[in-house]
Amino acid sequence: MKAKITLAKEFKIGEIDKRIYGSFIEHLGRAVYGGIYEPGHATADEDGFRQDVIDLVKELNVPVVRYPGGNFVSGYNWEDGVGPVEKRPKRLDLAWETTEPNYFGTNEFMKWCRKANTECMMAVNLGTRGPEEARNLVEYTNHEGGTAYSDLRKSHGYEKPWNVKLWCLGNEMDGPWQMGAKTATEYGRVALEASKVMKWTDNSIETVLCGSSSRHSRTFGEWEATSLDIAYDSIDYVSLHQYYGNHDKDTESFLAQTVELEEFIHSVLCVCDYIKAKKKSKKVINLSFDEWNVWYHARVNPVEKWSMAPEILEDIYTFEDALVVGSMLITLLRHCDRVKVACLAQLVNVIAPIFTKTGGGVFKQTIYYPFEHMSNFGRGVALNPIISCPKHDTKKFTDVPYVESIATYDEEKEKMALFCVNKSLDENVVLDVNLMDFEGYKPVKFISMDGYKAEDLNGFENPFVKPHENNLPDMDGTMLTADLKPFSWNVILLEK
Ligand code: AHR
Repeated sequence: MKAKITLAKEFKIGEIDKRIYGSFIEHLGRAVYGGIYEPGHATADEDGFRQDVIDLVKELNVPVVRYPGGNFVSGYNWEDGVGPVEKRPKRLDLAWETTEPNYFGTNEFMKWCRKANTECMMAVNLGTRGPEEARNLVEYTNHEGGTAYSDLRKSHGYEKPWNVKLWCLGNEMDGPWQMGAKTATEYGRVALEASKVMKWTDNSIETVLCGSSSRHSRTFGEWEATSLDIAYDSIDYVSLHQYYGNHDKDTESFLAQTVELEEFIHSVLCVCDYIKAKKKSKKVINLSFDEWNVWYHARVNPVEKWSMAPEILEDIYTFEDALVVGSMLITLLRHCDRVKVACLAQLVNVIAPIFTKTGGGVFKQTIYYPFEHMSNFGRGVALNPIISCPKHDTKKFTDVPYVESIATYDEEKEKMALFCVNKSLDENVVLDVNLMDFEGYKPVKFISMDGYKAEDLNGFENPFVKPHENNLPDMDGTMLTADLKPFSWNVILLEK
């Protein structure tokens, strides 16, 4: 089949905030223990951080990592995780029915962030706790010194403040599974008061209001409108969370779910702008899509209750999952004028692109690659590619374009990137790209992932699914022609 993309410098959607390539580490399963932290591991450094994992996180180029949860944060006492390790209490984590030993806490995570070239997006507990503990944590991490909590940090060996800039006001507070779940009004009130005192403690921080735990949650829409109406003046972002899965073994519909993702983003923006209009406010609320991924392989994973760092939510990702992750990230970039932060949930072992064996090796899951490509090459501004291509109906969606695409342009470096998914299971796409006013730009690399079966996956001994380089696409003036293989992920890099 044939498809056409037209690109011009004026088709600018917006600057890409680098934090759109964020990720997430929760105290859950083996994300921390056996994931990023494993003293005694062959690659562990003097802090017990696995260097093999840090190397892959650096390759992924993740500018921000959300921590420490997730559901976990709604029962977390941050004070348990600071100070001398031998004095830290072991606690029951009611969210995941495990035991949290608190060997790793705020300072360890901040140190890890520095070593992994990333920043922390810190979540506070607004489930079982409230504004008081939240503002104390801001004082502990961000205040220079001379007060109880900043001096406590110093006494723990950390002289300089960590200066955490981005803060989540709780996690999925609409969900009945959440410790301290709230109604929208209750949450709006506590979020406002927490955000106020946190910002009074450090006025350089930004805060994220919890949106609904998914588009399918019962109170979706109403939750955002009510809580935003209350907390609007103090918060900066509203969060979105969404996971997809191929539950019905229907690959075409699975790949088409970005149609729904588009609607989700659009709906939340409408609510934000409705409240803005209602308040006659000049302030624009942007989005923090702070949990997104494919998650369904390991939804239920019975483990021994109250065990420590058990193997939970350890999805092993397939090739088709990689195409969905690529398509989701493309969709987020199409909204980069308003989606400023996004976190692939999660980063290591727990529904993650990086998978380790405790005491052993590490491998890149299939979903690692589209994220790595976009995070490394998709910087600058996003350009809206005008696509004309055949569409198809799936069992769940109608009028789904076969080609999902976004282009990025780094004016300073004179580099462009075009990311495309060919969603046809059996037909290649001959793609003509009209580069309009990008005279002088030539393709320098054409990377693809194709030729795999939907269910193909990677393992420690078998890094089977991976990208390969193709011959460069043909170029005639400003017309580029590329062949996109059926059921494929494609990256075309151009330079002037
Ligand atoms: O990422 C796994 C879990 O999914 C998080 O703890 C929670 O916020 C969401 O429901």
